[in-house]
Amino acid sequence: MPLTHHRLRQKFIRFWKQKDHKEIPPIPLVPKDDPTTLFTGSGMQQLVPYLLGEPHPLGEKLVNIQPCFRAQDIEEVGDNRHTTFFEMMGNWSLGTYFKKEQLPWFMEFLVEEVGLPPEKLYVTVFKGDVGLAPDEESIAVWQATFKKYGISAKLGKRIIQYGNDKNWWSRAGSPKQMPAGEPGGPDSEVFYDFGEKGNFHACHVNCSCGRYLEIGNSVFMQYRKQPDGSFAQLPKKNVDFGGGLERILAAANDNPDIFITDLYFPIIQTIEKLTKTSYAEKTNQPQIRIIADHLKAAVFMAKENIEPSNKEQGYVMRRLIRRAVVKMLTLAVPVPTAVPAVCNAVINIYNNVYLDSSDLVRIQITITKEANSFITTVNKGIKLLQNQTDINGKLLFDLKQSYGFPLEIALEMLQEWEKPIDVSKLKQEFDQEYKKHQQSSRQASAGKFKGGLADHSDQVVKYHTATHLLHQALHEVLGGGVRQEGSNITAERLRFDFYSPQKPTDQQKQAIEELINQKIAESLPVFYQIMPKKEAEKSEAKFFFKERYPEMVKVYYIGRDLKTAYSKEFCGGPHVTNIKKIGKIAIYKLEKIGSNLYRIYAK
Ligand code: ALA
Repeated sequence: MPLTHHRLRQKFIRFWKQKDHKEIPPIPLVPKDDPTTLFTGSGMQQLVPYLLGEPHPLGEKLVNIQPCFRAQDIEEVGDNRHTTFFEMMGNWSLGTYFKKEQLPWFMEFLVEEVGLPPEKLYVTVFKGDVGLAPDEESIAVWQATFKKYGISAKLGKRIIQYGNDKNWWSRAGSPKQMPAGEPGGPDSEVFYDFGEKGNFHACHVNCSCGRYLEIGNSVFMQYRKQPDGSFAQLPKKNVDFGGGLERILAAANDNPDIFITDLYFPIIQTIEKLTKTSYAEKTNQPQIRIIADHLKAAVFMAKENIEPSNKEQGYVMRRLIRRAVVKMLTLAVPVPTAVPAVCNAVINIYNNVYLDSSDLVRIQITITKEANSFITTVNKGIKLLQNQTDINGKLLFDLKQSYGFPLEIALEMLQEWEKPIDVSKLKQEFDQEYKKHQQSSRQASAGKFKGGLADHSDQVVKYHTATHLLHQALHEVLGGGVRQEGSNITAERLRFDFYSPQKPTDQQKQAIEELINQKIAESLPVFYQIMPKKEAEKSEAKFFFKERYPEMVKVYYIGRDLKTAYSKEFCGGPHVTNIKKIGKIAIYKLEKIGSNLYRIYAK
């Protein structure tokens, strides 16, 4: 009988509770009060203050299982082990036990609870780097631990040393990438060896062929990066352990494909049932895995009331759903029926863990609506494509730019219609168009740079946002007849030209300045949305009449939400994230520069 995910969850929590750990509930996938990240990416995220030294209300030994999402892994999905959504099994020592307890305990869990043969386990340790010493202690602890299981663990064979690119962990990555104040430390990873099954060749633990699977990582959180780039010891030496639930389950079942576990297989069966596609067919596997992973992640996002959009979490969700739809189309999976069926399968997998059937309809509607509207886009593209006689890369690029019609679908369709095409030539042409487009948008923004912003320094960005406040304040104080004529911003001051039927009085000038500072004192956030130009015009966002905007525009808002936003403007950015960063603004000059044209200077 294969180990089920329910059973593995119970085993993990029970094991650590028996070692006096307290279970902490998982935090939402979208962390509250953490503007530094869109999604929860590891179990330790809720523990940062405690790893830095604050006492935790439940004590010094903690355990949990945390749903996580890592958008940076999206391109890797498709092989036997990478996913964007996963669950991290975690245990923590907040300054109590350290290496000599953590490493043997994790081994005990793997061997005695999960039943993994110890000879299939390999470990890595920190070799020393950036002025930090090699982790000799972990080597000694691992050797003693393996010995207990009758294995003589040789350095370089069973215990392998790596530098900070592999055996160092912090939220930001390697020691160099860490911002000041961030905790991190050397780590020790455990790998499971699936052996030379199938086409596997002789390799090493960090090889990407899939033979070895990293199943757990014990981070020894003992350092904090200092403003001068050096590392200071944290007040306490902590353990931050994270193990992949999906991966440990795959190891328990001795099959390197995590998609065969009961955390994914019901989704795969749902897809297989709705089409003639078979997962056993190797060429179908990457697409089916992408569909399963992406829609599962989208279900978890919908559960937390995220809606597909062009912004932040909503943008990531939209990308996941659209990518899943593209893969469905290439496999001829009927999208309108398959998407709700997959949502149902995901909910059944996590029933009584995170999801239940009361969520089903709402989640199905959210995800299916997005999938169907994307299909409409794709169908428009297909019609256009069908009617073309001259198929070239520029046409495919235009289809992508104007309709969001993906290149891979276009190629798929053309091959199906048996149009005589040279795929490598089309792709090359597509790339050329893409490069041209990139270059012209770079030139456009460079041109804009000269007129608008001197550079993207902090001060210029602050003044840029202040210009939006000024624009709105001018409207409020002088009335709707005001129109922007130009702006020019340097690190020394902002300059704003406008049309006004009347010359502003001194009192009005003062009222404008007060209004700007009053808004700054309200500490309003700044955010943007990307939307069709027509929609943006309807929303009455301000735009610069001299500029020609593309079909999709970026609209910057200053305010707590879309409805109550104080300022809405078509703009490419950049802006501060909150207007409190601007400080105080003083208008120091107002002059007439033409008939009904005025220029304001402020700093
Ligand atoms: N926080 C560590 C990780 O994410 C355990 O790998």
